[in-house]
Amino acid sequence: MKILSVVGARPQFVKLAAIADAAAQRDDVEHLIVHTGQHYDAAMSDVFFADLRIPAPDVNLAIGSGSHGRQTGAMLAGMDEVLEEHRPDWTLVYGDTNSTLAGTLSAVKMHLKVAHLEAGLRSFNRRMPEEHNRVLTDHAADLLLAPTEVARTHLAAEGLAERTLVTGDVMTDVCLRVAASVEGAEPALPEGIDPTAEFAVATIHRADNTDDPERLRAIIRSLQALEMPLALFAHPRLVAKAKDAGIELSGGAVHVGAPVAYPDLVGAVKQARAVVTDSGGLQKEAYLLGTPCSTVRTETEWVETLEDDWNRLVPDPSELTAAVSRPRPTADRPAHYGDGRAALRSVDALREND
Ligand code: UD1
Repeated sequence: MKILSVVGARPQFVKLAAIADAAAQRDDVEHLIVHTGQHYDAAMSDVFFADLRIPAPDVNLAIGSGSHGRQTGAMLAGMDEVLEEHRPDWTLVYGDTNSTLAGTLSAVKMHLKVAHLEAGLRSFNRRMPEEHNRVLTDHAADLLLAPTEVARTHLAAEGLAERTLVTGDVMTDVCLRVAASVEGAEPALPEGIDPTAEFAVATIHRADNTDDPERLRAIIRSLQALEMPLALFAHPRLVAKAKDAGIELSGGAVHVGAPVAYPDLVGAVKQARAVVTDSGGLQKEAYLLGTPCSTVRTETEWVETLEDDWNRLVPDPSELTAAVSRPRPTADRPAHYGDGRAALRSVDALREND
């Protein structure tokens, strides 16, 4: 059986690591990898393949950045040719990026079966491009691999229950594996932060936070006012938008570093006193690793993380300093995201539905 994975952006490489590993454990599976090229900087792409030991992509469409329509359109054109050549039994798409939507649309129009990994997540925020990508993908796909029971509920409410299977979360597979491998190692932090003392970790990259200069300035100011030092691993979009708006990211508590490799991120989050982010994946990683998280958004797709204040939504930047400094919750963290075997379950679901 031939599975063709379509990936393009950083969080998808993490999910792909789990799937590539699971596919390699099944003799009857041929696994092809198509990289759309949505993320292309070495720190945003190559290091993930190297560190997570993912086989090199069979095809790289090298699409690069652009407006949503231009980027998605270029991927669609590229995918048509790839799918025509390889005719997979399953096209597997991941998460909610423009690469996800392009892979899906191209395949379904060629009457090729599509499975959506991480199906059923909803923010119910129609300002997010990701919300459109995931809703459209779920409705077009043939098999919906849902990470949680909450995701299953969303799909059922949209009439998609029959195509749904709860597998657990594949990012959890990788996070737990990598966390064990970095146990005891000193985290790699930007200059000026003592890794043996208290520190916080932050990433900010959503358009809603980066593209309005006033909002971005307020977020950065609150982070700079923290008492403990904060490692800000800066996405290229954050760096570009801050530069355009004349905002200095470094200063006060904030120490800026480049985006880091996945094992370094996991190592840093594991030892951090607090996490600040607008990323979906990082909220969940903080939860899995037992570090309290403050999420700079009005809502989250990973609602389970909000239980017992492990994750807190902090849409108002002026409340960020206090939220990040709150005490670490003492409550247990139930295993909402599965047992670390979601990828194998997903690959087996494709084999059984071939
Ligand atoms: C994309 C996903 C988002 C995901 C994020 C993870 C969509 C709509 N969004 O957002 O869901 O959370 O990836 O990081 O698909 N850039 C570089 N080098 C790169 C990649 C991007 O410099 O390797 C810069 C470019 O200026 C680009 C900007 O970052 O325009 C945004 O990149 P893009 O891929 O459009 O979206 P992300 O913000 O990364």
